[in-house]
Amino acid sequence: MEKHKIIIDTDPGHDDALAIILLAKSGLFDIQAITTVAGNSTVQNTTNNARYILDLINSNIPLYSGSTNPLKRDLVQADVHGKSGLDGANIIKQEKLMNDAVDQIIDIVKNNPQQVTILAIGPLTNIATALTKDTSLSSSIKEIVIMGGAITVPGNKNRVAEFNIFVDPDAADIVFRSPVKKTLVPLDVCNEVFLTLDDFEQLKKSSLYEPIHDMMKHYIKGINTFEKTTGAIMYDPLAAYFLINPEAYTTIPMDVQIETNSELTRGMTVADRRTWGDKNPNIFVVKSADRKIFTDDFIKILKS
Ligand code: RIB
Ligand code: CA
Repeated sequence: MEKHKIIIDTDPGHDDALAIILLAKSGLFDIQAITTVAGNSTVQNTTNNARYILDLINSNIPLYSGSTNPLKRDLVQADVHGKSGLDGANIIKQEKLMNDAVDQIIDIVKNNPQQVTILAIGPLTNIATALTKDTSLSSSIKEIVIMGGAITVPGNKNRVAEFNIFVDPDAADIVFRSPVKKTLVPLDVCNEVFLTLDDFEQLKKSSLYEPIHDMMKHYIKGINTFEKTTGAIMYDPLAAYFLINPEAYTTIPMDVQIETNSELTRGMTVADRRTWGDKNPNIFVVKSADRKIFTDDFIKILKS
């Protein structure tokens, strides 16, 4: 049976790295492309980091570099992932930036109508640009699964907004308004799923143990410093796992709009949670994820 075709749009990023490794090692997907975007770090760094991750797993998945800046704003990088965006990894190669991510997203989707799911685990700049450049694209995308947003919990980049949406709220607004089937994996569920360095000891016998341990040491230190949590929050791996086992999640259709005008609430995912009044549901929002199923499967696949 043909494997499910996916594109991973990403800003590696320690948790992005784990998400890419998880999907590649699962063997369940025809990963058509890794497309990089500026977010956790510059697009030069996120592309270098993506190449490092692909080399780590001896993968020849095509890699295309994308947007250097958000649609209308200066890039605000994350602090958590360090200067390189993947501190703890020994990044040697300087990847040549071809800025072909958007065109490749369009080509892959148009050549495989209604068969490609896009996993968006960074700012939505590339996806919004592709939707704008080819106005018929939305009718050919099977689904967009997005790590982002905060529905009932505080933000992690300002008081209300999650980082990916905060960095490029204008792009998020375009994507959230598109008629494509979309699923959102927000902080509400991600905050509850984190691994400690001890958890990663289960990978001891794996050839990936050393590099993953070194990366996670930095990630946990960074997230502890800047987000005051104790473990490696599994933001992107949890969004990636939705592709592997959607039955481990519950979702509800919601009417969610993006704040693009106010600086105070820039990037807020404003959900209409009133129990009355007309709604225009535009996205399925994950309300719960089975932490044990995810964690057990995550370790099992990484160990494989
Ligand atoms: O808010 C978490 C998200 O921002 C994750 O995708 C992480 O990699 C950063 O990009
Ligand atoms: Ca990310």
